Amino acid sequence: MNRHLISAGDLAKDDALLILDTAEELARVSERSIKKLPTLRGRTVVNLFFEDSTRTRISFEAAAKRLSADVINFSAKGSSVSKGESLKDTALTLEAMGADAVVIRHSASGAPHRLANWVHGSVVNAGDGTHEHPTQALLDAFSMRRRLGGLEGRKVTIVGDVLHSRVARSNVLLLHTLGAEVTLVAPPTLLPVSIGTWPCEVSYDLDAVLPKSDAVMMLRVQKERMNAAYFPSEREYSRRYGLDRERFAKMTDEAIVMHPGPMNRGMEIAAEVADSARSTIVEQVANGVTIRMAVLYLLLGGETA
Ligand code: CP
Repeated sequence: MNRHLISAGDLAKDDALLILDTAEELARVSERSIKKLPTLRGRTVVNLFFEDSTRTRISFEAAAKRLSADVINFSAKGSSVSKGESLKDTALTLEAMGADAVVIRHSASGAPHRLANWVHGSVVNAGDGTHEHPTQALLDAFSMRRRLGGLEGRKVTIVGDVLHSRVARSNVLLLHTLGAEVTLVAPPTLLPVSIGTWPCEVSYDLDAVLPKSDAVMMLRVQKERMNAAYFPSEREYSRRYGLDRERFAKMTDEAIVMHPGPMNRGMEIAAEVADSARSTIVEQVANGVTIRMAVLYLLLGGETA
């Protein structure tokens, strides 16, 4: 394993499997009434969030605490960032407080990579701009493996706003490494120009792809990152690319539905599909804690200083 986790593409197959297998062992701890392990006692994990988050921020905090690490939560809102303090100075300030790992979410693609040059501890990318979200891809792979029994040869369809999605890129890279076959389905306007270099297929016909899919991952339409009209209307988008009850019926009885959250219910996914027994959306959140425990455990070595 590298010292940092910045891109899902940096994970060799053995690294990814080690994280998934470690998470499987840690999941057994999470099922106990006392969930805490002494593994990272004396270590400090800093959660450095410059962008809003519910699932990722809370699950990294829960993961670090379950491993008995000391946790410092930093949110840009209410900090000296509002006075103009730079990312570098913020990072050095936190390092002076003894951070062994810095978990960073930032609106700028590449911010975790920059940070890794400035701090001595491990850097974990918790989502950078439209670039990557590797622990989301790991928890998605973990969730798929648990429900489908394995990833080799599985057909995974990722649908929606690929252009603005760090989840899509990280998932394509990781799932390819793990032997799954990924198809992206999106309006042409919501695909990046570099899509031809990604290790996946592309389709514009969701109805044709659904019956062949083992897992269908719906992406949030990221209206906050859109500075132009990428589709005629929300209704039109939903009609062409939304997973409603009729489309859901085209999937096989074993296929699962995923969403990284937060969801636009009624737009990319109908509420009844999101809440169905074949949806893994709540499981994905629970698995997020387990995967982040595994990542912190493996990066920090599991030994006290
Ligand atoms: N999936 C995800 O990253 O959710 P949050 O933005 O709530 O962390």
